[in-house]
Amino acid sequence: FQSVSLARESLFSKTGKRSLFEKTYQYLHTSTPSLAKVVAVLYEAGAAAKEPRLLGCKENELGLRKFLEDRGHKYIVMSDKEKLLDQELPDTEVLITTPFHPAYVTAERIAKSPKLRLCVTAGVGSDHVDLHAANKAKITVAEVTGSNVVSVAEHVVMQILALVRNFVPAYTQVIKGEWNVGDIAKDSFDLENKVVGTVGAGRIGYRVLQRLKPFNCKELLYSDYQALSPEMESAVGAKRVTFEELIERCDVITINCPLHDKTRNLFNKQVFDKVKPGVYIVNTARGAIVDRDALVEAVKSGKVRGYAGDVWYPQPAPKDHPWRYMPRHAMTPHYSGTTLDAQKRYADGTKDILERYFDGRPFKPEDLIVHNGEFASKAYVQPEK
Ligand code: NAI
Repeated sequence: FQSVSLARESLFSKTGKRSLFEKTYQYLHTSTPSLAKVVAVLYEAGAAAKEPRLLGCKENELGLRKFLEDRGHKYIVMSDKEKLLDQELPDTEVLITTPFHPAYVTAERIAKSPKLRLCVTAGVGSDHVDLHAANKAKITVAEVTGSNVVSVAEHVVMQILALVRNFVPAYTQVIKGEWNVGDIAKDSFDLENKVVGTVGAGRIGYRVLQRLKPFNCKELLYSDYQALSPEMESAVGAKRVTFEELIERCDVITINCPLHDKTRNLFNKQVFDKVKPGVYIVNTARGAIVDRDALVEAVKSGKVRGYAGDVWYPQPAPKDHPWRYMPRHAMTPHYSGTTLDAQKRYADGTKDILERYFDGRPFKPEDLIVHNGEFASKAYVQPEK
């Protein structure tokens, strides 16, 4: 079957038209059961799954069952990311995962999945797949690019304000029946006139800058090896600086780059030693971009005045994860990119990727992370200096 899929894909990329081969394949699709095995690993939502728009959970299956089964494919949905997944992988052709409940598709797992051709990330951020191993095995990794970038950018602004305005302790006072204005106000500031910077000014980072513009910050900075166009820079009034300059000058840092070889533990002890004392950091990108224990030390010492975000490593965060218990944080579980609005967009986008794959049509270039044994997205390929 794998060779049929490959032949189908290559015929389409050559001709760009529906060939006799494809028509025959389509016929087979409707008449032969279980043409391809598709596995999805999604979080379990329990009672919350009664909300039918909560498409991204195990119970609601991204709304894909009918679409896949009508085409004769086998669709297996699970929340288990270990044993059950390992049992299914040897004959799985398409694997759907999400960053919210990441199934870690390691090199070992890829080696045990000889039929795997396509990994789809229902959402944005495919670092939970070993992209180098996927390249070696010529597995395509695609994600629903852009599907939740507004959702995340809004969350970033919310969490910046939660930290700078000292919202969490204020709210905690209220629900505890307390009232002590001084205690809250002594750690509360305006965002106006502060220097704010984003590490990564791609789809999310840029949208954060757009949303921050009306706050009249003193400066908006960004560091990224891909520069924004002069028009985009001037539209938000942002200036490109080096990572070193950004961390030394910012009152607020927001992290919006992917997790890859060069960003794992990017925020480590050496960096925390150099940041502006009292900086606030919001990380909705990936937990592993920040060194877990170095952050706890930096927050405890006051070097970092507050930390927020929604991404952890691993996920789900274990009960004893130290970020849960460090002072002055405003962390949430990983949900910024999975609002109901976002779920509709990434469920539709996942279906679109599957349709293209099964019909042998080209993928949308912006959805491709790795394809044909190479990185198709520049966001994961940081040039050497
Ligand atoms: P994007 O690909 O549009 O932008 C990423 C930008 O980061 C690119 O411009 C790239 O050049 C830059 N970059 C890469 N390495 C960098 C480095 N070392 N320093 C500075 N910039 C660097 O991606 P998008 O859509 O903006 O998403 C960014 C990341 O946000 C995703 O990879 C994912 O990890 C995370 N994300 C989190 C979500 C959540 O629910 N918390 C949802 C969606 C994405």
